[in-house]
Amino acid sequence: MHQLKSFFKQRCARALAAMDGSAEKGALDEASIVVEIPPRPDMGDLAFPMFSYAKLLKKAPPLIAAEVARSLAEDVECARRGKAVAVGPYVNVYLNRSSVAQELLSTLLKEEPRGRELSFLAGKRIMVEFSSPNTNKPLHLGHLRNDVLGESISRILAACGATVRKVCIINDRGIHICKSMLAYKEQGNGSTPESVGVKSDRFVGDWYVRFHTMSQEDPTAEERAQQLLRQWEAGDPETIALWKQMNQWAVEGIKATYQRTGVSFDHYYFESETYLKGKEEVLKGLERGIFYREADGSVWIDLTAEGLDKKVLLRKDGTSLYITQDIGTAIFRHRDWPFDQLIYVVGSEQQYHFKVLFKVLEKLGFEWARNLYHLSYGMVNLPEGKMKSREGTVVDADDLIDNLKEMAIEEIREKDREAIVGSVEDVAERIAIGALHYYLLQVSPTKDMLFNPKESLSFNGNTGPYLQYMGARISSMLRKKEGSAASRGMVRPELLTGDPEWELLKTLAQFPEALETAARSLDPSLIASYLYEVSKTFSRFYHDCPILNAEEPDLAATRLSLSEAVLRVLRTAMDLVCIPFLEVM
Ligand code: ARG
Repeated sequence: MHQLKSFFKQRCARALAAMDGSAEKGALDEASIVVEIPPRPDMGDLAFPMFSYAKLLKKAPPLIAAEVARSLAEDVECARRGKAVAVGPYVNVYLNRSSVAQELLSTLLKEEPRGRELSFLAGKRIMVEFSSPNTNKPLHLGHLRNDVLGESISRILAACGATVRKVCIINDRGIHICKSMLAYKEQGNGSTPESVGVKSDRFVGDWYVRFHTMSQEDPTAEERAQQLLRQWEAGDPETIALWKQMNQWAVEGIKATYQRTGVSFDHYYFESETYLKGKEEVLKGLERGIFYREADGSVWIDLTAEGLDKKVLLRKDGTSLYITQDIGTAIFRHRDWPFDQLIYVVGSEQQYHFKVLFKVLEKLGFEWARNLYHLSYGMVNLPEGKMKSREGTVVDADDLIDNLKEMAIEEIREKDREAIVGSVEDVAERIAIGALHYYLLQVSPTKDMLFNPKESLSFNGNTGPYLQYMGARISSMLRKKEGSAASRGMVRPELLTGDPEWELLKTLAQFPEALETAARSLDPSLIASYLYEVSKTFSRFYHDCPILNAEEPDLAATRLSLSEAVLRVLRTAMDLVCIPFLEVM
């Protein structure tokens, strides 16, 4: 579709330029031509509005449209591809279905669906940071949105040719970690995740919850946690050993959840290994007069001139803050893998933090600080009354997925599909992940949202399972090819001229553009809505057109190969939004 659009743009530009001898070069080139998809199929396949040339050509838009249409009609190359008609201020193009179908279908079946034309990010090195948990508790619903956004954006950028490096910072030190350590140290009696039969990150999280109860009963608990932090910073061997053990539990459990959702990283950074670098840089900046010291000894940056605030970078006792480690982490990242861009996928509540961080790095003289970007996403909540967790507020990621999986198992049983799907557990897990990911990505990243588990699982509607179901349906059709009329026919794309077939083919051919827009705006919801468009168009086709046993064997074979093209686009696009594909469902 992209090639066709650019062909017609070029010809429109040429026609316009011919109308005005005095037009400056460039004012009427291909890039300046706007192309639209008409709102109704009876208005053609492409539309070129002529409003914006009226001034330059000193002519009314309908007159311009008439002249451009005439010029396109006279051009044999154009005429072969389609018919141009002036309708008011527009030039509408009706593509020549039988000849264009050939071109479109063969491209779809030959190439990787992403297409060669889409290497617009080739040579770019993009680092994407996402998830970035703390080691005092398991992943929760908010992380699930973060994780799938980061993973999906990484896949989308890579599909456009970028070299992508996915990274995670594990915030593994600081007072919150010491709180779960303290509770365990005082009350744990050497228990382990194995001894109590609890997933290891949950085990650590339970001690963090316990700390809160402890500190309500005994106000000195807070001070003992601070003491533990000082011991940690001083390198006290016993404290370090305990910290290592609990971190290992937390990280192991968190990684198991990543495995489950299909999220992965090329590199993990640990705050405990980067915060000293941050501290060192802050002290260097202080020496160079970029930062200043308060009377109490703390180190600050004054960003009031930049419309920000004054911000503390080192505490009065010399200990680091959240931002201190981020300074060190960013520097290490650029040293390890010089990037053209680093995207931080982090919640919108940290907008201010990232503004300050980027400014600090810029003031420290790091050129690449200009290439840092905060992809700020909105909150995700559960509707009132759904799945309260232990603390009554956050829901653990694992619990949520388990819950979705249970619901999917029930659905499979109710529909009597246990024998058909094979491993019910396995299929239900993949349905759960598909439901979750699609629901979370379907909303634009910046918006806050509610996650409705029941709605996400609906088998008919704008959901992940619906897409999975469509994939399974086409897969099953392809398995039944032998013995059908389709196996006796020849693929002849010129037969795809009926409205439902034509619309489907055009929709498939728009995939590269949908992908490019999603990459440019870092917004996977555009792939989600594209997928929904494909599924709706396919349903109409499936409903209206017999496939395997169309009366003409050639037509059957051709429609089946169109279905195969749907499957290829579907598989690729589903993978971009992290929805597992299912052969049977
Ligand atoms: N662990 C942090 C938190 O839970 C998020 C880290 C985000 N990334 C960063 N580079 N600061 O709030």
